[in-house]
Amino acid sequence: MTTDPTIPSTTESGAPRGSDSHSLSVGPNGPLLLHDVALVEKLARFDRERIPERSPHAKGSGAFGEFEVTQDVSKWTKADFLQPGKKTRMMARFSTVAGELGSPDSWRDVRGFALKFYTDEGNFDMVGNNTPIFFVRDPMKFPDFIHSQKRTPDSGLRSTNMQWDFWTLSPESAHQVSYLMGPRGLPKSWRHMNGYSSHTYMWVNAAGEKFWVQYHFHTNQGVENMTNEEASKLAGEDGDVHRRDLFEAIERGDFPSWTLSVQVMPYAEAKDYRFNPFDLTKTWSKKDYPLHEVGKFTLNENPVNHFAQIEQAAFSPSNTVPGTGVSPDKMLLARVFSYPDAQRNRLGTNFNQLPVNQPSNPTNSYDKEGAMQYHHSGNAPVYAPNSYGRAYQDEQGPVDNGWEADGELVRAAYTLHAEDDDFGQAHTLVRDVYTDADRDGLVETVVGSLKDGVEEPVLSRVFEYWTKIDAEVGKRIEDTYKANRRPIA
Ligand code: HEM
Repeated sequence: MTTDPTIPSTTESGAPRGSDSHSLSVGPNGPLLLHDVALVEKLARFDRERIPERSPHAKGSGAFGEFEVTQDVSKWTKADFLQPGKKTRMMARFSTVAGELGSPDSWRDVRGFALKFYTDEGNFDMVGNNTPIFFVRDPMKFPDFIHSQKRTPDSGLRSTNMQWDFWTLSPESAHQVSYLMGPRGLPKSWRHMNGYSSHTYMWVNAAGEKFWVQYHFHTNQGVENMTNEEASKLAGEDGDVHRRDLFEAIERGDFPSWTLSVQVMPYAEAKDYRFNPFDLTKTWSKKDYPLHEVGKFTLNENPVNHFAQIEQAAFSPSNTVPGTGVSPDKMLLARVFSYPDAQRNRLGTNFNQLPVNQPSNPTNSYDKEGAMQYHHSGNAPVYAPNSYGRAYQDEQGPVDNGWEADGELVRAAYTLHAEDDDFGQAHTLVRDVYTDADRDGLVETVVGSLKDGVEEPVLSRVFEYWTKIDAEVGKRIEDTYKANRRPIA
């Protein structure tokens, strides 16, 4: 397909189209003809324009840019793209979690914060959110969580009853729900929010020493949020407000940037840290593990084709590079499987061959064929090992970014660390981090969500849940709800 707009239109096989306006008929008023290739091809292709939207995180947009390392973190990682002064092309996609492709950007939700770095050693993806934690800690619950946020089977409507039912039966959600119902549930724009890996990942240095890390991307535009009223108004007036904001800022040369810092935990300290560092519902205290600056990324290039470059972008936590790795976080390990699997379904087997997903370095994989194969290995051997000169690998022994694991096969919760519980960090957020105004907004938001048909026994559990997070906030939620309850007719 040419991007030269002056070339006369053709059929997909390259012949002149004849007409883009008139179908072939028997006389001006007569029936249409099956051999009108121009019409049949046009309708058949129109019938197939939509691909499945992402299962969660369907609505979003993004842009391209550059990541530059400004500090020396080589004592913690040998990753080539994290070495001092290195610059790497990258892209970002921001999204809402629960809404569908056309849903308003300003609905209250966690926001996706997905980054792809086209490094010289392969693609490195950081598929995070604008919150440093998550709702559940076992991947077995993830599909149920998403189901509870989407739509009911009969009416096809969203249901706060369903949401609160799931959350109150999953008390590990308390920390993330406290974020969601607080100011960060309504970012003013994608440019005005932070991003987090949320999970713990691994770094390995040139000497083979391992470290656990958490990535923080702080917005250089400043964190700004919206009120419930502003967000509801915008949902009606401009459902694409965040998509528009990012695109227009880049168009006018106002390039947004984020500073990457990491918390670094020496490998051996994970065992006895007061919180389980692999529990996705917990943060690490910055007093214990302060932030170390790494570099900065700037978005300076808009997509020229949203479908090809944003809708077809495929991010995955499985995309790591030497010097980086995953961790024993069960959620992360499941995500490593789930994303490429979803993308084989959503985009097709060869989704990594699409230009937006192709690494910038050459690949040499014995995986082959499948629908829409484009790149291939020519007539090189298609099996390894082989005696005909095509390279293959056979490393053995411990991998440098691995960890020790032992024990019986069990279905069980994580073993608890000294200060692990479901409500402690949620309480700290609501009581010590939130201002009085944030707490007022939280009470208003929770009570507002309960008015839309939350029924017993879910309702009583909501009051209990918030009382366990913070006794005063719990009481205010219950009292305000009861004071404003509509009288039963
Ligand atoms: C998108 C699964 C947890 C952030 C997706 C997609 C799937 C998925 C299947 C759609 C992928 C695609 O079609 O391209 C899961 C599973 C999880 C999980 C199974 C837990 C077991 C998380 C967590 C985070 C997260 C904890 C953030 C820390 C995202 C983001 C996207 C996404 C940002 C959108 C990526 C993009 O912009 O294309 N997830 N997810 N997910 N997920 Fe998750």
